[in-house]
Amino acid sequence: MAKFIPVEAFDIVIFGGTGDLSKRKLLPALYHRWADGQIPESTNIIGVSRSAMSDDEFSEFAFEACDEATEDSIKREEWDAFRKHLHFISMDATDPKADWKALKKLLNRKEDRPCIFYLAVTPKIYVPICNALGQAGLADNDSRIVLEKPIGTDLASARAINEGVGAVFPEECIYRIDHYLGKETVQNLMVLRFANSLFEPMWNRTAIDHIQITVAEHYGVGDRAGYYDGSGALRDMVQNHILQLLCLIMMEPPNSIDGDAIRVEKIKVMQALRPVTADVANETTVRAQYAEGAVNSKAVPGYIEELGHDSQTETFVAIKTFVDNWRWARVPIYLRTGKRLRKRHSEIVVQFRPTPVDMFGSESAQSNRLVINVQPDEGVKLFLQIKEPGPGGLRIRSLPLNLSYGDNFLVRYPDAYERLLMDVVRGNLSLFIRREEVEAAWSWVDGLLAAWDQADAPMRSYPAGLSEGPIESQMLLKSDNREWWKVSE
Ligand code: BG6
Repeated sequence: MAKFIPVEAFDIVIFGGTGDLSKRKLLPALYHRWADGQIPESTNIIGVSRSAMSDDEFSEFAFEACDEATEDSIKREEWDAFRKHLHFISMDATDPKADWKALKKLLNRKEDRPCIFYLAVTPKIYVPICNALGQAGLADNDSRIVLEKPIGTDLASARAINEGVGAVFPEECIYRIDHYLGKETVQNLMVLRFANSLFEPMWNRTAIDHIQITVAEHYGVGDRAGYYDGSGALRDMVQNHILQLLCLIMMEPPNSIDGDAIRVEKIKVMQALRPVTADVANETTVRAQYAEGAVNSKAVPGYIEELGHDSQTETFVAIKTFVDNWRWARVPIYLRTGKRLRKRHSEIVVQFRPTPVDMFGSESAQSNRLVINVQPDEGVKLFLQIKEPGPGGLRIRSLPLNLSYGDNFLVRYPDAYERLLMDVVRGNLSLFIRREEVEAAWSWVDGLLAAWDQADAPMRSYPAGLSEGPIESQMLLKSDNREWWKVSE
């Protein structure tokens, strides 16, 4: 049975309190955990933003946000109980001379309780806000700072942020969020690998043929086009979410589930990731943009039309890479992600090698495959070869042992931010990213961007809403006699 273990009372300050992330994720996550009885009475949730707003207006803003994110509408009496936790302060948090006293008054600094500063703002102002917090005397032992992705746009800017924030807060107080790590199925990757003795002996180049990681989205860039155009699929999704999934799948067993033990192993994977150089860039990667297409039989515009000007930003990327270490030598890893694909689905496919002898005839022979559905239809499928019953010769079918979350667990499915926010309160760093990880990921991504540049990598195209990406992405695997695992309808 799932049960919520209450956390200690805390204060959380959301810089960017009236922004998109606060509205879509943070306030609803806090509300849900409060409704589940996990958040104690004296907890304070303080929105900070430059916009002028009263406490009541902020509460109304939060109500709409939480109501929208909740299946049944929130009852007003219930909201009145929750709203007591909410406060709002209008200030420019980059300015050390702003009215920090007003904020300090709301914080229970004398009590020994966690004080969380969540930076839900553009990364450009992470360092100025941290400096201002330091000058206001708010960076002490009880303080924790949460940084949203993206941390920078390349290695240099990420380093500058890490150094600037690190000058005010020690590393053990810095919580770098990648919300994929808070997803139930992603947390399950470690359990699947290390709580089952079945997989570990086979988890290597002798038994595994290749690995695929897909994060496909059905939505286009919509009103985030301004941010997205300066980023693209590689920076927006691969640098963080996809490389994190890759690390969890490919890392060595950590000594414990302690945050640092895990993070040390993830860094080793990042460091062993083979750089993409200009001479192989066009052969091992594909970048593309969505063109006009259709969603639910209705025409939808292409990326350029949505944006309103020309652009060389990719909305899709596919990459063939390797982790050059003893365990994974010569095992290809295929990564792909894109917007406006046919279907939203994220999954990891571990394809095992064929049996050494094909006793039953090659037509029916397929190799074992482990498919981890990250979202939606969360679950794990292990495909085995089974004899089809009945007459008509020996027929073999590949069928899954199917462990569906939906069928097995009847709990409310929590959003990733809920778990992550509660982990910040508990001081548990396991699902957060260490400085070296961010920098190693950027270093690899920077190399790939430079390789695209030097190799003049072509921009391919795919019809919005109708495909799994450009044909070249299929060719990437076809040239290795492999194919992407087919997404079910
Ligand atoms: C964000 C990206 O980090 O993750 C978005 O910036 C993307 O572009 C989103 O849409 C995907 O998250 P999820 O949880 O919907 O898979």
